[in-house]
Amino acid sequence: MTSLDIRRIGGRIGAEVTGADLTDPGDFAVVNSALLEHKAVIFRGADLDDAGQIAFASRFGALTQAHPTVPSVDGQPNVLPVDGEEGIRSNQWHTDVTFVRTPPKVSTLRALVVPPYGGNTLIANAAAGYRDLPAELREFADRLWAVHTNDYDYVLPRTNTTKAAEYREVFTATRYKTGHPVVRVHPESGERGLFIGGFAQRIVGLSGTESRDILRILQAYVTRPENILRVVWNPGDLVAFDNRITQHYAPDDYGDQPRRLHRVTVAGNAPAGVDGKESYVIEGDEARHYTPAAA
Ligand code: SIN
Repeated sequence: MTSLDIRRIGGRIGAEVTGADLTDPGDFAVVNSALLEHKAVIFRGADLDDAGQIAFASRFGALTQAHPTVPSVDGQPNVLPVDGEEGIRSNQWHTDVTFVRTPPKVSTLRALVVPPYGGNTLIANAAAGYRDLPAELREFADRLWAVHTNDYDYVLPRTNTTKAAEYREVFTATRYKTGHPVVRVHPESGERGLFIGGFAQRIVGLSGTESRDILRILQAYVTRPENILRVVWNPGDLVAFDNRITQHYAPDDYGDQPRRLHRVTVAGNAPAGVDGKESYVIEGDEARHYTPAAA
């Protein structure tokens, strides 16, 4: 019998978990605390199947559907295929599904097929990014709101193929636009984090050019190398990250080699800013078909 162990693997983000029995409420509480503290937890060689990943993710709460617009794995409505062979790669810093009002609280990724080199996932601590801001910028950011949308060049197709064009059409089949606070207060820990990433396309009240400049400055703090965990996958590995206070990026550095992960996400609530005001829908809807949190 192994006993539960949490080993920190990065100065500012990341821990490796061994010996956890998540059906045991005590173990789950420790893992959930580790997730809140370290933002991303890795279970090496977990070797789960879809049902196991679904059961694991469900420990954190009700699940979302696979995605608001992208189809799930066949017969598994909660499982999103993340398949490099489709020519679509998530090589933009982002927080999952922030274009809806209630984005997932936790994302889980499980590696099925891993290329012999490259194909890692980078995860950044957005609370550390916020803490690193000079006080003047922090106070400025506290008051800002951003418009997040799925209708932009996220998941850039590597080639201008019909498949890539079709994927973009599916991704934006419903156009969502949501206003979120730029600084989100974490609903469990109370920590503040920069809640931006690639879907944040505009700062409310500012021009496109001003928005881009401000977002670029804030984003640079989130993605400082000190704030990043690099997950080097082996088949069977499972990672959970706190989608309320992290961003992630999948480098497109493995050529045409196959890479396949499955993603299962846990429903989250509407983000709140430092003044307690909650996110609001600007265009589209509450995405009720996607997440129970919108109900
Ligand atoms: C994602 O953005 O959820 C996928 C990350 C990855 O491909 O590593």
